[in-house]
Amino acid sequence: RLGLKTKMIGQRIHYQESVDSTQKIAHRLGFENVPEGTVVIADEQTGGRGRLERAWHSPKSTGVWMSIILRPNIPIPKTPQLTLLAAVAVTQAIEDCTGLEAHIKWPNDILLNGKKVTGILTELQAEPDRVHFVIMGIGMNVNQTKMDFPAELQSIATSLSIEKGSFVNRAEVIRAVFHRLENLYQLYLEKGFLPIKLLWESYAVSIGKVVTARTFSGVIKGRAMGITDDGVLKIEDEDGNVHDIYSADIEI
Ligand code: BTN
Repeated sequence: RLGLKTKMIGQRIHYQESVDSTQKIAHRLGFENVPEGTVVIADEQTGGRGRLERAWHSPKSTGVWMSIILRPNIPIPKTPQLTLLAAVAVTQAIEDCTGLEAHIKWPNDILLNGKKVTGILTELQAEPDRVHFVIMGIGMNVNQTKMDFPAELQSIATSLSIEKGSFVNRAEVIRAVFHRLENLYQLYLEKGFLPIKLLWESYAVSIGKVVTARTFSGVIKGRAMGITDDGVLKIEDEDGNVHDIYSADIEI
Protein backbone atom coordinates (compact mmCIF):
# COMPACT_ATOMS: atom_id res chain seq x y z
CA ARG A 1 0.00 0.00 0.00
CA LEU A 2 2.84 2.37 0.77
CA GLY A 3 5.05 1.03 -2.05
CA LEU A 4 8.04 0.67 0.23
CA LYS A 5 11.62 0.27 -0.89
CA THR A 6 12.79 -0.80 2.56
CA LYS A 7 13.56 -4.41 3.48
CA MET A 8 13.10 -4.21 7.21
CA ILE A 9 11.50 -1.02 8.53
CA GLY A 10 7.78 -1.08 7.81
CA GLN A 11 7.63 -4.60 6.40
CA ARG A 12 4.92 -5.14 8.97
CA ILE A 13 2.61 -2.29 9.81
CA HIS A 14 -0.07 -2.33 12.48
CA TYR A 15 -2.35 0.51 11.49
CA GLN A 16 -5.11 1.68 13.78
CA GLU A 17 -7.48 4.61 13.46
CA SER A 18 -7.45 5.66 17.07
CA VAL A 19 -5.23 4.51 19.91
CA ASP A 20 -4.23 5.69 23.32
CA SER A 21 -0.51 5.70 22.43
CA THR A 22 1.33 3.81 19.68
CA GLN A 23 4.18 3.42 22.20
CA LYS A 24 2.02 1.20 24.39
CA ILE A 25 0.93 -1.03 21.53
CA ALA A 26 4.48 -1.34 20.22
CA HIS A 27 5.65 -2.24 23.69
CA ARG A 28 3.15 -5.07 23.87
CA LEU A 29 4.16 -6.29 20.40
CA GLY A 30 7.82 -6.14 21.39
CA PHE A 31 7.17 -8.82 23.99
CA GLU A 32 5.36 -10.93 21.38
CA ASN A 33 8.61 -11.24 19.44
CA VAL A 34 7.39 -9.50 16.29
CA PRO A 35 10.23 -8.97 13.80
CA GLU A 36 12.52 -5.99 13.99
CA GLY A 37 11.20 -3.08 11.95
CA THR A 38 7.55 -3.68 12.83
CA VAL A 39 5.73 -0.35 12.99
CA VAL A 40 2.58 0.77 14.77
CA ILE A 41 0.89 3.75 13.10
CA ALA A 42 -2.27 5.54 14.23
CA ASP A 43 -4.39 8.23 12.61
CA GLU A 44 -5.08 9.70 16.03
CA GLN A 45 -3.74 9.26 19.57
CA THR A 46 -5.88 10.08 22.55
CA GLY A 47 -3.06 9.71 25.06
CA GLY A 48 0.08 10.53 23.07
CA ARG A 49 3.14 10.82 25.31
CA GLY A 50 6.25 12.96 25.00
CA ARG A 51 9.51 13.15 26.86
CA LEU A 52 9.59 14.06 30.55
CA GLU A 53 6.02 12.81 31.12
CA ARG A 54 4.52 15.43 28.86
CA ALA A 55 1.45 14.94 26.72
CA TRP A 56 1.90 14.84 22.95
CA HIS A 57 -0.95 16.44 21.04
CA SER A 58 -1.87 13.98 18.24
CA PRO A 59 -5.06 15.09 16.48
CA LYS A 60 -6.82 13.00 13.87
CA SER A 61 -5.51 12.78 10.30
CA THR A 62 -3.03 15.62 10.57
CA GLY A 63 0.21 14.01 11.62
CA VAL A 64 2.37 10.91 11.53
CA TRP A 65 2.16 9.18 14.90
CA MET A 66 4.19 6.00 14.88
CA SER A 67 6.35 3.65 16.94
CA ILE A 68 9.02 1.41 15.47
CA ILE A 69 10.33 -1.74 17.15
CA LEU A 70 14.08 -2.30 16.87
CA ARG A 71 16.17 -5.14 18.24
CA PRO A 72 19.75 -3.88 18.09
CA ASN A 73 22.47 -5.98 19.60
CA ILE A 74 24.09 -3.11 21.53
CA PRO A 75 24.95 -2.48 25.18
CA ILE A 76 22.31 -0.61 27.16
CA PRO A 77 24.30 2.65 27.62
CA LYS A 78 24.46 3.05 23.85
CA THR A 79 20.70 3.25 23.31
CA PRO A 80 20.54 7.08 23.43
CA GLN A 81 22.49 6.95 20.16
CA LEU A 82 19.34 5.64 18.51
CA THR A 83 17.43 8.82 19.41
CA LEU A 84 20.09 10.85 17.64
CA LEU A 85 19.99 8.45 14.70
CA ALA A 86 16.22 8.89 14.45
CA ALA A 87 16.60 12.67 14.56
CA VAL A 88 19.00 12.55 11.61
CA ALA A 89 16.66 10.25 9.65
CA VAL A 90 13.66 12.53 10.22
CA THR A 91 15.65 15.64 9.30
CA GLN A 92 16.72 14.04 6.02
CA ALA A 93 13.21 12.74 5.33
CA ILE A 94 11.71 16.20 5.82
CA GLU A 95 14.14 17.58 3.30
CA ASP A 96 13.40 14.70 0.88
CA CYS A 97 9.68 15.31 0.80
CA THR A 98 9.35 19.06 1.30
CA GLY A 99 12.71 20.53 0.30
CA LEU A 100 12.72 22.34 3.65
CA GLU A 101 15.88 22.55 5.72
CA ALA A 102 15.24 21.16 9.19
CA HIS A 103 17.53 21.38 12.20
CA ILE A 104 17.99 19.32 15.33
CA LYS A 105 17.88 20.61 18.88
CA TRP A 106 19.50 18.21 21.35
CA PRO A 107 18.48 15.60 22.02
CA ASN A 108 15.41 14.95 19.97
CA ASP A 109 13.55 17.99 18.69
CA ILE A 110 13.36 18.67 14.97
CA LEU A 111 12.87 22.33 14.16
CA LEU A 112 11.73 24.23 11.09
CA ASN A 113 12.37 27.97 11.28
CA GLY A 114 13.03 27.58 14.99
CA LYS A 115 9.72 25.85 15.77
CA LYS A 116 9.23 22.22 16.72
CA VAL A 117 7.82 20.03 13.95
CA THR A 118 8.75 16.57 15.26
CA GLY A 119 9.47 14.91 18.57
CA ILE A 120 11.18 11.59 19.16
CA LEU A 121 10.78 9.36 22.19
CA THR A 122 13.03 6.31 22.44
CA GLU A 123 12.08 3.80 25.10
CA LEU A 124 14.20 0.87 26.10
CA GLN A 125 13.04 -2.53 27.25
CA ALA A 126 16.11 -3.93 28.94
CA GLU A 127 17.01 -7.37 30.13
CA PRO A 128 19.56 -7.51 32.95
CA ASP A 129 22.52 -6.75 30.71
CA ARG A 130 21.27 -6.47 27.16
CA VAL A 131 18.68 -4.69 25.08
CA HIS A 132 15.52 -6.73 24.65
CA PHE A 133 13.99 -4.18 22.28
CA VAL A 134 13.78 -0.46 21.67
CA ILE A 135 10.64 1.48 20.79
CA MET A 136 11.38 4.47 18.63
CA GLY A 137 8.38 6.80 18.83
CA ILE A 138 8.14 9.51 16.19
CA GLY A 139 5.51 12.23 16.22
CA MET A 140 5.49 14.50 13.17
CA ASN A 141 3.20 17.47 12.70
CA VAL A 142 2.29 17.30 9.01
CA ASN A 143 -0.92 19.08 7.99
CA GLN A 144 -1.99 21.06 11.03
CA THR A 145 -2.84 24.71 10.57
CA LYS A 146 -1.74 27.17 13.21
CA MET A 147 -5.20 27.11 14.77
CA ASP A 148 -5.04 23.33 15.21
CA PHE A 149 -2.37 23.75 17.89
CA PRO A 150 -3.37 24.57 21.46
CA ALA A 151 -2.84 28.29 22.15
CA GLU A 152 0.23 27.71 24.32
CA LEU A 153 1.98 25.82 21.51
CA GLN A 154 1.24 28.20 18.64
CA SER A 155 4.45 30.18 19.02
CA ILE A 156 6.70 27.15 19.50
CA ALA A 157 5.21 24.40 17.31
CA THR A 158 4.70 24.11 13.59
CA SER A 159 3.79 21.61 10.87
CA LEU A 160 5.32 20.66 7.53
CA SER A 161 2.39 22.21 5.65
CA ILE A 162 2.57 25.51 7.56
CA GLU A 163 6.24 25.84 6.66
CA LYS A 164 5.90 24.57 3.10
CA GLY A 165 2.74 26.53 2.41
CA SER A 166 0.91 23.56 0.90
CA PHE A 167 -0.60 20.18 1.77
CA VAL A 168 1.90 17.38 2.44
CA ASN A 169 1.12 13.73 1.69
CA ARG A 170 1.52 11.71 4.88
CA ALA A 171 2.24 8.42 3.07
CA GLU A 172 5.16 10.11 1.35
CA VAL A 173 6.48 11.35 4.68
CA ILE A 174 6.24 7.85 6.17
CA ARG A 175 8.02 6.32 3.16
CA ALA A 176 10.82 8.85 3.38
CA VAL A 177 11.31 8.29 7.12
CA PHE A 178 11.41 4.49 6.69
CA HIS A 179 13.91 4.77 3.87
CA ARG A 180 16.27 7.15 5.70
CA LEU A 181 15.93 5.25 8.95
CA GLU A 182 16.77 1.93 7.35
CA ASN A 183 19.85 3.37 5.61
CA LEU A 184 21.17 5.02 8.77
CA TYR A 185 20.43 2.00 10.94
CA GLN A 186 22.38 -0.24 8.52
CA LEU A 187 25.25 2.24 8.54
CA TYR A 188 25.14 2.31 12.34
CA LEU A 189 25.22 -1.48 12.69
CA GLU A 190 28.09 -1.76 10.22
CA LYS A 191 30.22 1.28 11.04
CA GLY A 192 29.17 2.32 14.52
CA PHE A 193 28.03 5.67 15.83
CA LEU A 194 30.74 7.95 14.40
CA PRO A 195 29.17 8.58 10.95
CA ILE A 196 25.79 9.19 12.60
CA LYS A 197 27.35 11.57 15.08
CA LEU A 198 28.98 13.60 12.30
CA LEU A 199 25.69 13.87 10.44
CA TRP A 200 23.89 14.78 13.66
CA GLU A 201 26.36 17.56 14.38
CA SER A 202 25.99 18.94 10.87
CA TYR A 203 22.22 19.35 11.41
CA ALA A 204 22.34 20.51 15.03
CA VAL A 205 21.44 24.10 15.88
CA SER A 206 22.90 24.39 19.34
CA ILE A 207 26.50 23.25 18.91
CA GLY A 208 28.98 26.08 19.42
CA LYS A 209 26.31 28.38 20.86
CA VAL A 210 25.58 29.45 24.39
CA VAL A 211 22.64 27.47 25.72
CA THR A 212 20.75 27.10 28.96
CA ALA A 213 20.12 23.54 30.08
CA ARG A 214 17.38 22.91 32.64
CA THR A 215 18.18 19.59 34.28
CA PHE A 216 16.64 17.82 37.26
CA SER A 217 19.44 19.08 39.46
CA GLY A 218 19.62 22.69 38.30
CA VAL A 219 20.29 25.13 35.49
CA ILE A 220 23.55 25.11 33.56
CA LYS A 221 24.45 27.89 31.18
CA GLY A 222 27.37 27.63 28.81
CA ARG A 223 28.62 26.82 25.36
CA ALA A 224 27.35 23.56 23.86
CA MET A 225 30.57 21.83 22.77
CA GLY A 226 29.16 18.76 21.07
CA ILE A 227 28.03 15.28 21.94
CA THR A 228 30.02 12.34 23.22
CA ASP A 229 30.03 8.93 21.63
CA ASP A 230 27.16 7.96 23.91
CA GLY A 231 25.04 10.90 22.81
CA VAL A 232 25.63 12.92 25.96
CA LEU A 233 25.70 16.72 25.49
CA LYS A 234 28.82 18.54 26.71
CA ILE A 235 28.46 22.11 27.95
CA GLU A 236 31.32 24.35 29.04
CA ASP A 237 30.29 27.01 31.56
CA GLU A 238 31.84 30.47 32.05
CA ASP A 239 34.40 29.12 34.50
CA GLY A 240 35.60 26.54 32.02
CA ASN A 241 33.97 23.60 33.78
CA VAL A 242 32.62 20.96 31.45
CA HIS A 243 29.24 19.40 32.30
CA ASP A 244 27.81 16.18 30.89
CA ILE A 245 24.09 16.57 30.26
CA TYR A 246 22.10 13.34 30.12
CA SER A 247 18.62 14.76 30.23
CA ALA A 248 17.45 18.36 30.07
CA ASP A 249 15.47 20.99 28.25
CA ILE A 250 17.70 23.21 26.20
CA GLU A 251 17.06 26.86 25.50
CA ILE A 252 19.05 28.42 22.72
C1 BTN B 1 8.83 14.64 22.58
O1 BTN B 1 9.24 15.55 21.85
O2 BTN B 1 8.63 14.87 23.79
C2 BTN B 1 8.60 13.27 22.01
C3 BTN B 1 7.25 13.12 21.36
C4 BTN B 1 7.01 11.74 20.80
C5 BTN B 1 5.62 11.56 20.24
C6 BTN B 1 5.42 10.24 19.54
S1 BTN B 1 3.94 10.18 18.59
C7 BTN B 1 4.11 8.45 18.35
C8 BTN B 1 4.60 7.89 19.67
N1 BTN B 1 3.48 7.61 20.57
C9 BTN B 1 3.49 8.39 21.66
O3 BTN B 1 2.64 8.36 22.57
N2 BTN B 1 4.56 9.20 21.63
C10 BTN B 1 5.37 8.99 20.42
